[in-house]
Amino acid sequence: MSNENIRDEIAKRRTFAIISHPDAGKTTLTEKLLLYGGAIVEAGMVKGKKNMRHAVSDWMEIEKQRGISVTSSVMQFNYDGYCINILDTPGHQDFSEDTYRTLMAADSAVMVIDGSKGVEAQTRKLFKVCRMRGIPIFTFINKMDREAKDSFDLMSDIEGELGIETCPINWPIGSGKRFQGVYDRLHKKLLKFEFEGDQIAGRHEVEKIEVDLADPGLKDLIGEGALEQLLEETELLDGAGHPLDMDMVSHGELSPVFFGSALTNFGVEPFLEEFLRMTSSPLPREAKEGVVDPLNDPFSGFVFKIQANMNRAHRDRVAFLRICSGKFEKGMEVFHTKEGKKIRLSQPTQLMAQDRSIVDEAYAGDIISIFDPGIFSIGDTICDPKHIVHYQGIPTFAPEHFCRLRQVDSLKRKQFIKGTDEIAEEGAIQIFQEPGKSMEEVIVGVVGTLQFDVLIYRLKAEYGIEVRMESLPYEHIRWIRQLPGDEPGQNVNDYQKANELTLTSDTKIVQDIKGNLLLLFSSDWNIDWALNHNKGLVLAEFSQN
Ligand code: G4P
Repeated sequence: MSNENIRDEIAKRRTFAIISHPDAGKTTLTEKLLLYGGAIVEAGMVKGKKNMRHAVSDWMEIEKQRGISVTSSVMQFNYDGYCINILDTPGHQDFSEDTYRTLMAADSAVMVIDGSKGVEAQTRKLFKVCRMRGIPIFTFINKMDREAKDSFDLMSDIEGELGIETCPINWPIGSGKRFQGVYDRLHKKLLKFEFEGDQIAGRHEVEKIEVDLADPGLKDLIGEGALEQLLEETELLDGAGHPLDMDMVSHGELSPVFFGSALTNFGVEPFLEEFLRMTSSPLPREAKEGVVDPLNDPFSGFVFKIQANMNRAHRDRVAFLRICSGKFEKGMEVFHTKEGKKIRLSQPTQLMAQDRSIVDEAYAGDIISIFDPGIFSIGDTICDPKHIVHYQGIPTFAPEHFCRLRQVDSLKRKQFIKGTDEIAEEGAIQIFQEPGKSMEEVIVGVVGTLQFDVLIYRLKAEYGIEVRMESLPYEHIRWIRQLPGDEPGQNVNDYQKANELTLTSDTKIVQDIKGNLLLLFSSDWNIDWALNHNKGLVLAEFSQN
């Protein structure tokens, strides 16, 4: 394959994650997108996944017991000349640090918001990560077939809560029972929603009608009151709204907003078309050696997720690799920068929901999973041996739930340390130590509480250890970036110095496995208190090393 063909393949890749609060409609929207791409043939296949997993997946008892996914997958399909990779971000009970890490592998994000609810807690958290990376963020305001909040209020909600400008690409005409469709501001077309009696389900790909809002005849189509309101609102948007500035979009400073209803398939295809046009092909990535160009540089990628025990019989691990540049071919020799040696990647696979298929080739933008004999860690770079690069690594995100973990049988100290260390290395949990305390007791922090259950289960099943878990009343943890009177980065791991901080009695100083010092807080209020009483103290919500 010529270099030009490789470049063509890469240029048509669009790799994005869909983020949302549970129940906003992420699964439904994903499913509709897959339907357009022909990747699935009937509605319900993705949704059904939640139940189907009982039958197809037996790699972890917990998954069976709860009937939910503990993993996230990647879905690839073609549409209109594009090759699309949707990264699934675990979001319900299985919300975890992997959800954040998945966003490190995406080039853009689609934020699904329930029109009746506006911005919700989980969206806020995920949005922060997108913002940190400066990737384009597109908004799909869903469930317009239900009574929604005022559209202007929704815009101010997004702008106020998330600190991003918005530019509605289309604008809804009513909502709920009075939902008439959307006006496409970009193409000056009307996309009319049609109820099928009281039925709202079904397909709603209604022709777009070119309209002139100044044409009074439009009232026959949507009614006089609705036309008046639409005129008023679009005038306000044209006058006071933010124009569509693609430079701001590409830096994640302005979010193009689309209204629709995923369940009824309304507004999904126009959204997909516009989104694909506006979002970017694989983005260049920063490496120690300089910026890596996805199109012109040879193969490189990084591990963003490690999944243990997909097949319990083999106790194997699978590493998920985001390809950042060039082309990957099955059996090719690559360089693993952390180990400093050449390796051959055996059996690379691509995931489509639960089915794994062997891939012969993959390109920048694609995600492949590779067998991990225990050598990979999150953030590792894998690249062409003749063109070695080191990617920056993946930050560690602040967990929000904490417990104290003790082994029941003190004779099994070694296994306890091995087990907790290995599971922490995979990135499922984070371990903290109170300086001076014994290793038989650790503080475990997780992003989603399911990880506690997974931990107890795995320690027993894989390491033969019984543990006692006591939940701790902390909600926030922050890495110390600078202590009062110091330069940034100076003395940050000096426990004696950190001990001199003025803190509330329920704030605890702990250490992560890399020796970094952190503060554990029981509320937001305590964080403010610490910052207000220690001038010069700088805290961070994630750690880069
Ligand atoms: P999630 O992945 O973000 O958690 O949300 P999901 O797609 O599972 O949707 C949550 C619920 O909202 C589902 O209903 C789904 O049918 C409904 N929904 C999604 N999009 C729309 C929409 O555009 N309009 C309306 N009216 N409802 C929508 P459920 O009752 O929880 O599940 P199910 O019984 O429909 O499967």
